Amino acid sequence: MDTFCDTHFDCNVAGVRSAISRLTLVNFRNYENLRLNLDKPFVVLHGENGSGKTNILEAISFLSQGRGLRNAKLSEIKTFDFLTQQQPAAFANNQGWAVSALVQRNDDSFSIGTAVETMLKEDNYNEIKEVERRIVQINNQKITSQNELGNYLTVIWITPQMDRLFIGGTQHRRHFLDRIVYAFDTTHSQRLSTFDNLYRQWLQILKSGKSNHQWLLSLEEQIAATGVAIAAARREQVQKLNLFMEENPDDTFPDVVLELDGTIETMLDKKAAVYVEDYYRESLLKMRQNVLENDRGETINKTDFNAIYKKKNLPANLCSTGEQKSLLLSIVLSEARYLAAHKGFPPILLLDEVAAHLDDNKRHILLNKLAELKTQVWLTTTNPFEFSSLHDQAQFFEVKDNSVHQS
Ligand SMILES: Nc1ncnc2c1ncn2[C@@H]1O[C@H](COP(=O)(O)OP(=O)(O)OP(=O)(O)O)[C@@H](O)[C@H]1O
Ligand SMILES: [Mg+2]
Repeated sequence: MDTFCDTHFDCNVAGVRSAISRLTLVNFRNYENLRLNLDKPFVVLHGENGSGKTNILEAISFLSQGRGLRNAKLSEIKTFDFLTQQQPAAFANNQGWAVSALVQRNDDSFSIGTAVETMLKEDNYNEIKEVERRIVQINNQKITSQNELGNYLTVIWITPQMDRLFIGGTQHRRHFLDRIVYAFDTTHSQRLSTFDNLYRQWLQILKSGKSNHQWLLSLEEQIAATGVAIAAARREQVQKLNLFMEENPDDTFPDVVLELDGTIETMLDKKAAVYVEDYYRESLLKMRQNVLENDRGETINKTDFNAIYKKKNLPANLCSTGEQKSLLLSIVLSEARYLAAHKGFPPILLLDEVAAHLDDNKRHILLNKLAELKTQVWLTTTNPFEFSSLHDQAQFFEVKDNSVHQS
């Protein structure tokens, strides 16, 4: 049965320092309307494949900066009936989606809401276009920048796609790394989007053939300054996390060392930032011609990292599937502990199908480690018995037929 509470004061998640006590989804993927009231540290969502478990985690991930755990386009999220190829009648007129939550953090409680707003914007060719953007409210006050969200709540996640993190393309690893950086330093995501904007403008001018030397020089200067700031933030965060992991070794999950692999980041080991900026700017100038031949040359958009399984001195991509999962868990658990110490409140964890590839013993130990974090942990599974040892620490919800019932 669905649980309801009239005011958020009735819903209290005891024993944890960060939690969602009420979650509401409107017009979000397969949920036209969904409300969950939560009062336990663990929330287990179970149901068949395709029932909508990950969609709920994705909704929660939008309570933090960025494009959520699927990195989705805002427009693909609103509820759509794929059989009739229409939006539900209640949401006609192309209405957007919304997610809201009552959040408990230490002794505070506040509300966070996010929704999509359609607005008219002039593009680079002076044409007016409809664009969608995400707006965020905290305690019903609209905030100007998503960066502020990080001061209220941090959300981190592990998804099944991340099982391939160490063997897949560099883009996913870079994204994973940048999310770690902006969990600690909320301005990092702003730097990344500024960089992408500048770089896109620079490419556009070069490709248009109407090169304006002064304008390109000015863009190159800004790209170099922003790029070096991004590289410096990555480098600093990796160093800090490595130190934290060294000083706080885990007795179960393997010790890991992260090694950054990026030209600009490596150069910062030996040279002052101003020198590296000059180098970056000059390399952009030299690259102008090559860019048209699709050689992107130096860019912080090529940075990668390696995770080394310390005991075996083995890079993660050569480890077994189960070992890779343990390395990933080790990094994320350390990140969560470090964030709790750094911010004064732990992040909420979204663990999608996390038990896959873990033997019974590892799963049992993982649940104990998660409980020690004193935060709310959301788990999904097709088999709720995987988490039956959680007993009264968890609320179990069955996800079925586009709705969710406590089981
Ligand atoms: N915009 C949308 N509107 C309506 N339904 C959607 C939309 N986007 C996705 N869906 C539905 O959501 C389903 C996927 O949900 P989700 O990924 O949460 O499932 P899951 O329970 O996590 O499954 P699995 O166990 O396979 O991971 C799709 O099958 C589709 O029916
Ligand atoms: Mg799923």
